[in-house]
Amino acid sequence: MTRILSRGKIISLGIIVLLLALVAAQINISSSAERIPYQDSTRVAEGRALYNENCASCHGIQLKGEPNWQKRDADGFLPAPPHDMSGHTWHHPDKLLFTLTHSGVQAIAGPDYVSKMPAFKEQLTEHQIWSILAYIKSTWPDEVKERHDALNEQ
Ligand code: HEC
Repeated sequence: MTRILSRGKIISLGIIVLLLALVAAQINISSSAERIPYQDSTRVAEGRALYNENCASCHGIQLKGEPNWQKRDADGFLPAPPHDMSGHTWHHPDKLLFTLTHSGVQAIAGPDYVSKMPAFKEQLTEHQIWSILAYIKSTWPDEVKERHDALNEQ
């Protein structure tokens, strides 16, 4: 029987196919932005502890925020908003929530914006911030989680 392709050629073709698959996987990894890992129970548990330690003093242990959170106080500061579905945390995509927590409100609203919300980049690792956001998102009702997932796809 005459072979159309030699064994050596078949092996080379196999290697080329493998390399192309690796390149495709790589492109896929680098283009997919990091997402809030709210379905990972280990990250949620880690995030709950970190939230209670770093965020609850202002945003509340029940994520309810401060009273009258929509009104600036006498000094012009906004009180801490809730992170449950009554606030607008869930109106913001993952990356924006990460930037607000990591770099502070000024990173979004401009350097002159005054806020009591601290930037956490010195105190918390990026991994820890994503875990805290995972805890926050895990407390939302399924419907709100789905709407938030859809927001991230836009
Ligand atoms: C010292 C009080 C304080 C602490 C501690 C604090 N925050 Fe805030 N946070 C605020 C205030 C006040 C705002 C409103 C920001 C403004 O001035 O517009 C805010 C706003 C936010 C927002 C934007 C919410 C929205 O609806 O736009 C996010 C997200 C947020 N905080 C996350 C966190 C996380 C996560 C932690 C813990 C790692 C944390 N905050 C700790 C006071 C605080």
